[in-house]
Parts: sequence; C-alpha cells; structure tokens
Amino acid sequence: MGRKILLEHDNVPGIQGYDVYRKNGGYASVEKAIKMTPEAIVEEVKKSGLRGRGGAGFPTGMKWSFLAKPEGVARYLVCNADESEPGTFKDRYLMSRIPHLLIEGMITSSLALGVKTAYIYIRGEFFYIVRILEKAINEAYANGWLGKNILGSGVDLDLYVHVGAGAYICGEETALLESLEGKRGNPRIKPPFPAIAGLYGCPTVVNNVETIAAVVPVINMGGEEYAKIGIGKSAGTKLISASGHINKPGVYEIEMGITVEDFIYSDEYCGGMLNGGKLKAVVAGGSSVPILPADKILSTANGEKRLMSYEGLADGGFATGTMLGSGGFIVMDETASVVQNLHTFARFYHHESCGQCSPCREGTGWMEKILHKILDGHGTLADVDLLWEIQGKIEGNTICPLGDAAAWPVASAIRHFRSEFEAYVNNPGVLKEVNHYNNVYNLVKTH
Ligand SMILES: Cc1cc2nc3c(=O)[nH]c(=O)nc-3n(C[C@H](O)[C@H](O)[C@H](O)COP(=O)(O)O)c2cc1C
Repeated sequence: MGRKILLEHDNVPGIQGYDVYRKNGGYASVEKAIKMTPEAIVEEVKKSGLRGRGGAGFPTGMKWSFLAKPEGVARYLVCNADESEPGTFKDRYLMSRIPHLLIEGMITSSLALGVKTAYIYIRGEFFYIVRILEKAINEAYANGWLGKNILGSGVDLDLYVHVGAGAYICGEETALLESLEGKRGNPRIKPPFPAIAGLYGCPTVVNNVETIAAVVPVINMGGEEYAKIGIGKSAGTKLISASGHINKPGVYEIEMGITVEDFIYSDEYCGGMLNGGKLKAVVAGGSSVPILPADKILSTANGEKRLMSYEGLADGGFATGTMLGSGGFIVMDETASVVQNLHTFARFYHHESCGQCSPCREGTGWMEKILHKILDGHGTLADVDLLWEIQGKIEGNTICPLGDAAAWPVASAIRHFRSEFEAYVNNPGVLKEVNHYNNVYNLVKTH
C-alpha cells in the first residue's frame, strides 16, 4: 500500500468534526510551530522540497522567503480554493472530507509568514463546502486556534472564507486577488508579484489548498523527513483526481515516483481500463496540459517507464512529454474522440477567457469555431494547419497563462493525433462512428 499523509485519516468516522480531528493528532503542527521562529518554520518548508500543488510546481519555501516584510505593513496569506480546471477535483475532496487539515495548514503557514489576516478564496459553486469550512473555522475559533492570542502566544490570526462567482480565471492568482478586492477578476501584469504587492497592494502569498494542507505533515515530521518521501525534486505525496475510462475514478494520494502504468492498472488506484478497453490517450495534469497517446504516457522516449512526478511526466519536453499540472488525470480508451474532447476544452477556454489580451480573446474563439467546423464535417486540411498557427500565436503572448492553457491541448492533439483530424476532414462519415457524447463532461466522473 502506498503511503498516505494527507488522506491518512480520510476514512475515520467523524473526521470532519473538530473533536475527532484533534484526537487523531490534529493541530499538532500549530502547537509545534508556535514555539518556533517564523524563519525556522520557513526553513523546514524549504528543506521539505514541497512544491506548489496548484499547477506550476513552484517551490513553496522559496515563494515564502520572497515575501516582503516592510515595517508596519500588513501581510496576507490567501488560499486558492478556486479549483476550476476541468479534470481536477482533489481540493474540493480534501476540503469537504478533512476541512480542519486546511485550517490547520492556514494557521501554521500564517505563523511562518507573520500573517494576521488570512483568506480562503473558494469557487462559488462549492457552496456546500463553504458551509463545511465555516463550521470548522468556528470550531477552531471556539477552541483557541484562531482569534486573539492563539494558545496564549500573543499571536492573533483571523481567517475568512471568501466565495467567488465561479470564474476559471479567478484561479489565476492575481485575478483572484482582484476579485477578492471586489473588482472584476482580470489578471494583473507582473511584476510586481504578489509577494511584493498583492492583496490591497500589500505583500501576499497565494497557495493552493493541497500545498497549504501539506505544510501540516511537513512541520509535524520535519522538512528532512518529508523530503525523503517521493522522488528527487518531486518530494512528498500528490493528490490525483482520476477520471475517464477507468474502473475506479476518484481522488488518490500517491507517493510521487510510482509508474503511470501502476497508477492506471493497479487495484490500489484506477483499477485498470473500464470494460477491459484499450488505452488511447491520457491528459495527465488537468485540461491545460498536453495530451499524450498511450505509448508516450506509459514510457519515456528512451524506453523507461514513465513516472508520476513533476520530472517524470515532463520528461521529453512537449515533444514526447507533458506536465503533472494540478493532477487531473483523464484517461481515454479507444472509443474516445480526441478531436471531440479538444473541442470541449476549446469551448471552455473561449468561455473562460477574461478578454483582456487579444491573442487569447480572439484566438480561443477562433480555435473553437475551427474545431466545430471540423467536427461538423466541413473542415479542410488547411484548417488543421490554421489551428496549429493560431495556438502558436497565443502561447507566450498573454498576460496570464490561460492563453498557454488553451494553446497546449490544441498543439499536443495535432502533434500526436494529426491523423484523427485528417480522418474527420477526409471522411466526414467518420462522425457516425465516434461517440459524440464521449466528451470530457462524460469522462470526468467523481465519486
Ligand atoms: C487560468 C488559471 C487558473 C488557475 N486556477 C487555479 C486554481 O483553481 N487553483 C490553484 O491553486 N491554482 C490555480 N492556478 C495557479 C495559480 O495562479 C497559482 O500559481 C497557484 O495558486 C499558486 O499556488 P501553489 O504555489 O501552491 O501551487 C491557475 C492559473 C491559471 C493561469
């Protein structure tokens, strides 16, 4: 059995409530951290090798050490609980099952950063989780973990849940901060980065739910011990949202470094392909990352088994590799249509583009229309080339990475599945043979 750290107590009855959480070792990291200096807590996180679980994998300790600390200026910690990436549903799982783990992580992280006011920015559709979090926060206040003079230490901390309005762009950290300030969620031009000028122009750290929750075991076991879990620069465990044509869709905690093959086929995780189907393709890290065909997701270009880690999935660059991203692992068998899925993604990115940058505003809509034309049986081979050209003009030319997120799936689908586009163009009759309902909304199933 793989090692579980975040979901260790997931199945303990009543773990959602304070008393059971506390009896199972809850809030120990706060008791430990409160006796440490903020610098010592940051040092442990640096030693742990923990990297951001929101998608980019930036080292958390390093991000924390960039936080400006001007005298007399407030600092903020903001938890990014927007989780709108198609294929990713692990943060909502963690928050709804073990809410106190996130709250504990927020307190311990706030102690490290010298923060007195912290926010959890949560996606509007997660209203049922807002209630769960607010109940847990009230319990934390009632038991002296939040509020004035935590555990008699002289440290004050307030924690608020802020509900967004359900926009994917508000997961981008600077759009999130704009939205938290009550404005339209448009990404900011960087620099300055939030560590210098974030919420209300003050130094701010934005971290993903899973990253903040992982601070709890890091402090409990110590950075060096945590760094021993996982593989190389991919330290620790990772929550993976597994969906699609597999026997057991759901959220799994894996130790980084297991093979992709094991993840898909072993009973401990996905339990193999649904109905014994043949693996066709995998989107390994949420809708934004390059899709890979079966041979490339299972092995690297030099014939080694591909590993579930930041480096393992990225091996080969975009030519033959992909990214761990936010861990949204969508598995497709031979009945799935890559072009149809791509159209679903393109429609999503077009809808969610904030419209600030022309390449993204215009390009996402253009790509959606071309894909629709191809699926509708009116496409030409020149359209496939045009798609390729448009995605190349979006990538790297926008204020925030939503443009890249929209471009990469298109580029990778054409790179690895060009013949499927050509089949649609050359033989519109092929449309009758594919299951049009096999789009991502059907593929993505949660518990
Ligand atoms: C369009 C877009 C949407 C994003 N959505 C999320 C999200 O829902 N949750 C998240 O943690 N990070 C999201 N990110 C990444 C954040 O900008 C940021 O990198 C992350 O919250 C940092 O946390 P981490 O260092 O703990 O990963 C998104 C980025 C982009 C460009």
